[in-house]
Amino acid sequence: MRLLTHRWIVASSITLGLLFAASNAAAEGVTLNITCGDGSSNDPCLDAVQEWEKRTGNQVNFVSLPSSANEKLSLYQQLLSAGSSDLDVILIDTTWAGILDAHLSDLNTLLPGDLGSGQFENTINNNTVEGRIKALPAYVDSSLLFYRKDLLDKYHREVPKNWDEMEETAAYIQQQERQAGNRIWGYVFQGKSYEGLTCNLLEWTASEGGGVLINEDGQPEVDTPALRRSLERARGWIGGISPQGALSYEEEQSRGVFQSGNSVFMRNWSYAWALAQNPSSPVRGKIGVAPMPAGETGTHRSTLGGWSVAVPRYSTHQKEAADLVALISSKEEQKKRALKLSFMPSYTDLYKDPDILKALPYFAYVQTAVEEAIVRPASVVKTLYPRYTNSIFNRTHSVLGGETSVDDAISRLERDMTRLVRRAEIAAPKDSD
Ligand code: GLC
Repeated sequence: MRLLTHRWIVASSITLGLLFAASNAAAEGVTLNITCGDGSSNDPCLDAVQEWEKRTGNQVNFVSLPSSANEKLSLYQQLLSAGSSDLDVILIDTTWAGILDAHLSDLNTLLPGDLGSGQFENTINNNTVEGRIKALPAYVDSSLLFYRKDLLDKYHREVPKNWDEMEETAAYIQQQERQAGNRIWGYVFQGKSYEGLTCNLLEWTASEGGGVLINEDGQPEVDTPALRRSLERARGWIGGISPQGALSYEEEQSRGVFQSGNSVFMRNWSYAWALAQNPSSPVRGKIGVAPMPAGETGTHRSTLGGWSVAVPRYSTHQKEAADLVALISSKEEQKKRALKLSFMPSYTDLYKDPDILKALPYFAYVQTAVEEAIVRPASVVKTLYPRYTNSIFNRTHSVLGGETSVDDAISRLERDMTRLVRRAEIAAPKDSD
């Protein structure tokens, strides 16, 4: 097993046109290249890969990727459109099966059995294009509100149930702690202009009763009180309960601030739990997790996230790659991944597993959060999903950064969504006869 950087792969497959796997083949067996994490002990695929290498005598190289979901997608698009055979197994976001469809093998033709059974339907649906299963889950994601239990106790505050309470508690503790010389923030989240901000915006809006800006009939539905309230609220956080720097935070930067003890609340995915509870973490034993705050309509909503493994059509090791995919997404490996790294499994019965519930008590309610999660409309807008999300995160970012008014952002979003729907030809006919 070794780690390669994506720059190396791009150079080898695009500039040089070389197949490095051939020169790197093990004496016996094949060598697969996989993109998952960074191949470190926190890599969600590491244990499965080591197990697979042991079982088969084959070898696996990890190819490191840029951190943000958008950059990962651009890299895949660049490599796969060039027909590169350098990647054998790739980790894809829950919104990408449709975008990468043409480049991915149908796993139904490579693996036996009823592939999606026992798993969250919304996740399997996202990975299925016209009946073809393009990827199998390594884990799912649902956002959570992480909080500092010790600080809530110190100030006799409850875990906030809605945004108003969260803001009030965050501001109060931030102010009290600062008076005592502790430079803490109230709330950190993902405010950079990238996919993570789209997830945040959709959650704010859904918690206020709004939709995903394109409705079920494929029509734009943008200018709602829910979206307006969400943007106005979040704009007020920057420089108040959230640092200016949150405008460039992805998940890991938010975790960095929270884990070093510098924020009362954080929005993040489940993986942050295991890291924040690590023996070397300054907040170990001082934190709790709760559902995301509700809006005025009273609902706690989180975006459906998660990553799945797929086999590019151009891999010259289809059978072996599919075999590795099956192991990474197996129930056994997902259980281990949950226990070791707090990644959420796609198998629903694992949410009743006594070992998991003992180690991760909050899993008792995240199953419902996943089942009721906001599904980004990738299967509706299909290959135009990048345009959809780019518009959302760019417009939201400029509101947070104070460059655009909420009114302006909403009219731009409306224009973008109208164009997108027209271009995608997805709108259902208005009169059905
Ligand atoms: C997490 C989610 C993924 C989402 C991304 C945004 O990795 O699993 O679905 O797109 O965060 O940053």
